[in-house]
Amino acid sequence: PALPIKPPLTIRLCQPRGFCAGVDRAIQIVVLALKKYGAPVYVRHEIVHNRYVVEGLQQLGAVFIEELHEIPAEHRDAPVVFSAHGVPKSVPADAVARNLFYLDATCPLVSKVHKQAMRHQRLGRHVLLIGHAGHPEVIGTMGQLPPGAVTLIETEADIDRFEPEDASALGFVTQTTLSVEDTAGLLKALEQRFPDLKAPAAESICYATTNRQEAVKEAAPGADLFLVVGAPNSSNSKRLVEVAERAGAKMSLLVQRASEIPWDEIGAVATVGLSAGASAPEIIVGEIIDAFRERFDVRLDLAVTATELENFPVMRALRDVELTAA
Ligand code: F3S
Repeated sequence: PALPIKPPLTIRLCQPRGFCAGVDRAIQIVVLALKKYGAPVYVRHEIVHNRYVVEGLQQLGAVFIEELHEIPAEHRDAPVVFSAHGVPKSVPADAVARNLFYLDATCPLVSKVHKQAMRHQRLGRHVLLIGHAGHPEVIGTMGQLPPGAVTLIETEADIDRFEPEDASALGFVTQTTLSVEDTAGLLKALEQRFPDLKAPAAESICYATTNRQEAVKEAAPGADLFLVVGAPNSSNSKRLVEVAERAGAKMSLLVQRASEIPWDEIGAVATVGLSAGASAPEIIVGEIIDAFRERFDVRLDLAVTATELENFPVMRALRDVELTAA
């Protein structure tokens, strides 16, 4: 019998997509620490917000914890890695007090935001942090300064509510993974209310966030469906779903694996946009394309908006392993 003819489908694949330099470095740090020191290597918080990555590292001997006191006494010699999202200052201080050996995998671009927040404070400014409550990066950035020195701004209502002691001494920073557009809107409202508000010396939203949103904007208009590979707790991935919708995709979804694609719901589609958040491995993008190939006659179109050459080296303590790890 003749093979059934598959309906044609164009997948607009965003480039850049997926792993950023900070995520890549954080994963390398755990892998290299396992090579150098052996298992277990403790990791405080999901190293990056992706279950596939976390499970892969667990298989190699990484043990994930939320707080340092969970490290059992008999493993006090094992290294502990802090996640790419950054940590409040109290965490390394706690590690020192507990005599633990830690490796800080905070993304250098998050550390840069920490420095900008501290700089505002040094210059006598109260700090406004634009970001999402409860996200580990926000907890980490707020925790660079003493309690009360930073106010979190999530919505316009937060701006209306905020009563500064001195409106002439305010500075802002933002989370690195925000929506470029939403942040511009909040900043406009902030600057209207506080004309003396000082910007950080360098942009807080990172290159990876900006580039991934740009590529989604290019691929989304008119797409019947837009899929973003990413975890529900991944801030930058969730923003990509919103950007796709706003840029004109008819339906936009976050999926962790191909098995989550709701085939019945998506119905007849001719054009699908596809991207992946900064913590989503490329192998899952491949898995999703394959799942479409089983059902459709797929044509791949690239939506290219930038070429990324960023590469963040791991800390010195792990460079000798890296060199021998061919
Ligand atoms: Fe860093 Fe941006 Fe990735 S802050 S971890 S490069 S999303």
